[in-house]
Amino acid sequence: MAYETLIVETHGAVGLVRINRPQALNALNSTVLSELKQAYAALHLDDAIGAIVLTGSEKAFAAGADIKEMQSLDFVDAYKNDFFSGWAEIANARKPVIAAVSGFALGGGCEVAMMCDFIIASETAKFGQPEITLSVIPGMGGSQRLTRAVGKAKAMDLILTGRMMDAAEAERSGLVARVVPADKLLDEALAAAAKIASYSGPAVMMAKEAVNRAFETTLEEGLRFERRLFHSLFATEDQKEGMAAFVAKRKPAFKNR
Ligand code: CAA
Repeated sequence: MAYETLIVETHGAVGLVRINRPQALNALNSTVLSELKQAYAALHLDDAIGAIVLTGSEKAFAAGADIKEMQSLDFVDAYKNDFFSGWAEIANARKPVIAAVSGFALGGGCEVAMMCDFIIASETAKFGQPEITLSVIPGMGGSQRLTRAVGKAKAMDLILTGRMMDAAEAERSGLVARVVPADKLLDEALAAAAKIASYSGPAVMMAKEAVNRAFETTLEEGLRFERRLFHSLFATEDQKEGMAAFVAKRKPAFKNR
């Protein structure tokens, strides 16, 4: 399928989605959102795909929500249409998604990276929530997800000053899982996604669900949830295969069942 603002490829069991609006540093307009929803839906329907990599260009993962599209919005329209609520579908992707970030990940760009399961950043990545400079605040989850990722002090610093942080600071702060040289970014992200996709799909999806639950509930409830998911994996053929393969010292052949 051809998209106006995305390039979508498959690399074995990995879906690679590239945001492609170079003229606007990949600013996230309504076309990007609707196309991302379509691309994610197609990749979720495709049983051959086990993981997704979301990326941008070398210069920008995404420089934010599209300011030109937003500038004339009034309160009533924003409220009636629950502006930005459509991004929940991207955040709720059930297959694992890795953000491969190079260059600017600002405002909505940083927020979309944080909607992914983890971020691999190139040394050139710059993260920030500069909405305050436009007299608004983060609207796609930045005040919540950034605070959970890096804690109150750093989140307040970034959101109130609007400053950017580089990849090293982002890694130190816990926003980014790994920092790699710019020319290795895509290879590293695709390799990590291929590794994830090589495991049993149900186990991967439950692992993701369990970690995400940690942000939604108490420790006791989270532990109970984890244990129930753990128990349920013993109903899968892949659990039998994985453990039998270990004991027989051979490679497992998972069927995603
Ligand atoms: N929306 C729309 N267009 C954007 C954009 C955005 N967020 N970011 C960049 N562009 C456009 C510029 O307008 C420019 O277009 P023209 O050539 O037509 O003028 C083009 O992309 C290139 O940008 P610059 O010339 O500014 O490039 P630069 O290298 O000098 O600067 C930058 C790069 C520092 C990232 C700068 O573009 C910038 O500050 N961008 C805006 C960042 C921002 O404020 N993001 C937050 C948006 S609000 C938001 O995201 C709300 C939310 O919570 C979801």
